[in-house]
Amino acid sequence: MIRFLKQSITNFRHTGALCPSGRMLAKEMTRSIKEHDGPRRLLEVGPGTGSFTRPILKCLKPGDRFDIVEINPEFCRQLEERALTEFRAMNPGIEVNLHQSPIESADIPGNYDHIVCGLPFNNFEPSLVRSIFKRMIELLAPGGDLCYFEYAAVRAIKAPLTQSSTRAGLRRIEAHGRSMMRRHRGRRQLVFSNIPPAVAIRLQRATA
Ligand SMILES: C[S@@+](CC[C@H](N)C(=O)[O-])C[C@H]1O[C@@H](n2cnc3c(N)ncnc32)[C@H](O)[C@@H]1O
Repeated sequence: MIRFLKQSITNFRHTGALCPSGRMLAKEMTRSIKEHDGPRRLLEVGPGTGSFTRPILKCLKPGDRFDIVEINPEFCRQLEERALTEFRAMNPGIEVNLHQSPIESADIPGNYDHIVCGLPFNNFEPSLVRSIFKRMIELLAPGGDLCYFEYAAVRAIKAPLTQSSTRAGLRRIEAHGRSMMRRHRGRRQLVFSNIPPAVAIRLQRATA
């Protein structure tokens, strides 16, 4: 918690939250991974201190591949030291790769069955939001799904506190989210018990 807060203060634009996500949000974000049997290709984007990474690691089985992309070198160091090195030593049949990189340019293979994304989209420029979503949808296998979250009513709360150019950007991000929901059979699930309450949004890439 303190480690997360420290990174949040030094780099709020990328971190976008004051505390890591809670257990109930993690459960919702990883639901479709748990419902899928058989070898899976998984990607997590923006793990921070690992609120979603740990439950994902717990349900991995031999033959699975798990790629993790995080831009912040300090979060990468902590994840490696506190979770990944030990996991690899105990599970030689499971491939887990941590990529310290922005998702925009990460060198990862694609064809993922599930992507879990913790990026703070409402802190980004609309053009960046569009290009990251485009990349993530392309990284999905046909029929695969992408789950991301945002804090409930985040744009309505943020808008009155910002300049008009930022408000216009937030409206464009909202419109883009609605269009992704329509194009990719989106579903939303409110997780009220998270602090603050959050909405998990699941998009599905059409089967070929
Ligand atoms: C809101 S935090 C989420 C952390 C964690 N998933 C959680 O829910 O507690 C956002 C994370 O995304 C990372 N991040 C921001 N921009 C990124 C980018 N372009 N590519 C990869 N990671 C990024 C940040 O460093 C941070 O770890």
